[in-house]
Amino acid sequence: MAENNKKVAVVTGGSRGIGRAIIMALAEPNLTVVFNHFDPPEDTAADETIEMASKKGCEIEGLRLDVSNHQAVQEFVNGVVERHGRIDILVNNAGITRDTLLLRMKEADWDAVLAVNLKSVFNCTQAAVRFMTKQRYGRIVNIASVVGAMGNAGQANYAASKAGIMGFTKSVAREVAGRNVTVNAVAPGFIETEMTAKLSDKVREAFLVQIPLGRAGQPEDVAQLVKFLVSEDASYITGQIIHLNGGMYM
Ligand SMILES: NC(=O)c1ccc[n+]([C@@H]2O[C@H](COP(=O)([O-])OP(=O)(O)OC[C@H]3O[C@@H](n4cnc5c(N)ncnc54)[C@H](O)[C@@H]3O)[C@@H](O)[C@H]2O)c1
Repeated sequence: MAENNKKVAVVTGGSRGIGRAIIMALAEPNLTVVFNHFDPPEDTAADETIEMASKKGCEIEGLRLDVSNHQAVQEFVNGVVERHGRIDILVNNAGITRDTLLLRMKEADWDAVLAVNLKSVFNCTQAAVRFMTKQRYGRIVNIASVVGAMGNAGQANYAASKAGIMGFTKSVAREVAGRNVTVNAVAPGFIETEMTAKLSDKVREAFLVQIPLGRAGQPEDVAQLVKFLVSEDASYITGQIIHLNGGMYM
């Protein structure tokens, strides 16, 4: 822990949706949060996240950068440690969709989704683990998806990226466990955010009928699980993929 006992958390894609809910669940005066996002420059979502978390007494910074850019991520994570002395928590949450059936999928759709959803997890985790292993403390949570386990027509790129996160999570968990760094993944089902708001009513209905609990999840449902996984109460959990989907996948 830092001398003043303040922990430092990095959350990718923290401007809105699940990332913002995670920041709000973690936000407290004893935590510094640094998040990134890649919203258009005129978008005010990141500023709203900063304002909301500041009201909870949390020190917070938001930076616009592309998590798929290896060099930019190295500089971002090094900057966090230069400014705040350490990095205790990393939540790899940033993600995008480019949904279409395989036969119509452009190479660019594949490359963009794999770069933003999977390469980013490599970029951020590698950069953070350097410091976490030296500190002999770290908590990493990767946001996967139920479709990484189930598959989903129209999401071959997205499902492949999320299944990749699952394999990555287990492998890195084995590598760093001896240094008291835990690595887990959360695999949400259908969560109400801007990402799912753009789905057609037909696709939403098709999802909802598959959910035994009969409702879509909220970003806060995911955030509470992440909060637990980065807490001391979860110190014996590593290498796990924890599903959170209203029973959609058992
Ligand atoms: N919404 C769901 O139903 C659902 C289900 C399962 C998994 N997930 C996963 O949860 C995560 C968050 O999803 P959401 O629904 O909150 O999405 P969202 O679209 O509401 O927010 C995505 C966030 O990621 C950021 N982002 C996008 N591209 C980026 C890039 N290149 N570099 C840095 N940041 C970038 C955005 O700026 C934003 O902050 C994603 O990984 C998504 O795949 C979502």
